[in-house]
Amino acid sequence: MRANRQIVLAARPRGLPRHEDFRLAEAPMPAPADGEVLMRHDWLGLAPAARLRMDEAGSYSAPMALGDVVYGQAIGTVLESRHPDFKVGDMAMAMRGGWQCFSALRGGDLVKIDPQLAPPPAWLGPLGTSGLAAYIGLLEHGRPKSGETVVVSAAAGAVGSVVGQVARIQGCRVVGIAGGEDKCRAAVDEFGFDACVDHRDPGLPQALARACPDGIDVSFENAGGASRDAVWRLMARGGRIVVCGLISEYNAPEATGPGWYRLLTQRLQIRGYITSDHLDLRPAFERDMARWWAEGRIRMREDVSQGLASAPAAFIGMLLGHNRGKVLVSLAPDHASAA
Ligand SMILES: NC(=O)c1ccc[n+]([C@@H]2O[C@H](COP(=O)([O-])OP(=O)(O)OC[C@H]3O[C@@H](n4cnc5c(N)ncnc54)[C@H](OP(=O)(O)O)[C@@H]3O)[C@@H](O)[C@H]2O)c1
Repeated sequence: MRANRQIVLAARPRGLPRHEDFRLAEAPMPAPADGEVLMRHDWLGLAPAARLRMDEAGSYSAPMALGDVVYGQAIGTVLESRHPDFKVGDMAMAMRGGWQCFSALRGGDLVKIDPQLAPPPAWLGPLGTSGLAAYIGLLEHGRPKSGETVVVSAAAGAVGSVVGQVARIQGCRVVGIAGGEDKCRAAVDEFGFDACVDHRDPGLPQALARACPDGIDVSFENAGGASRDAVWRLMARGGRIVVCGLISEYNAPEATGPGWYRLLTQRLQIRGYITSDHLDLRPAFERDMARWWAEGRIRMREDVSQGLASAPAAFIGMLLGHNRGKVLVSLAPDHASAA
């Protein structure tokens, strides 16, 4: 019987995770119980939120225990089914598949995907939870109107790139904030942003002011830190600040936010949200995003690394901003070597 290769949490990171915080392990191949399916993971989707689950205190979700398989999403193929809705060969997305080569999961914890509509990686990007986070945050909480200015940080990343494209579909002027020239160029050339400014540039506040001459109506915050502070000074009256993520603080949770005086003078609304609070919007998201994807109005950038063992380096690289698009791990090399 083949073994199941896994990456487990070996130690709780202090600040930025190190390679020693992860360990490659082997477990017996899982056996599906009644109501479950055995899935071969073909792709892992890495997400910054996994870092929050590595702290003992946890965050909005329960912390991982030491020795747990690292939390993460997976796309895979059903090898064996004991659930009436799934048959062998179906492809599905597992929110809690984890960094491993196989899993046995309840049918209710899987979402079937249609590889005819879009290739599997897209179901971890715009058509998956990155897209859902963008859709909910922007449309439900940002409520952008045509002609308004929307600013999004981590603009070339998995969530940010979808926010920008959906805001353009709504008729907004879209300005990105991203780390470095290459990402700013991608935001404009690949994703259709009107402008994008570099958060590493000490002249960020001035560059953002030039890019937003009428102020900012909707801020979609993914990063916090320098970008948040620059955005804050430019918020227009009645503006909405949507806090999707604060990645600059995930390795240093004591960071402080801006003073609140502008909140008063500009009559601002600030809203934090977690995607899983709004799963009622999933059908609308699936309908709209599938249509926009089929019409070619949503594009995706992928940052693929090869093999399960590459996941920790890819994850650490993402927290350092080294990724160019949605961070994916292809498990094809693992399955080929085990065959
Ligand atoms: N609320 C929710 O339910 C929900 C759901 C999904 C994701 N999120 C959040 O959305 C954000 C984006 O996630 P993603 O999956 O799309 O990742 P991503 O943007 O593809 O990758 C992370 C990016 O964050 C940026 N970054 C890293 N450290 C930074 C720092 N110190 N200062 C500024 N930017 C930094 C980097 O881009 P640059 O090089 O451009 O800075 C990096 O490429 C994260 O904060 C995540 O937690 C929230």
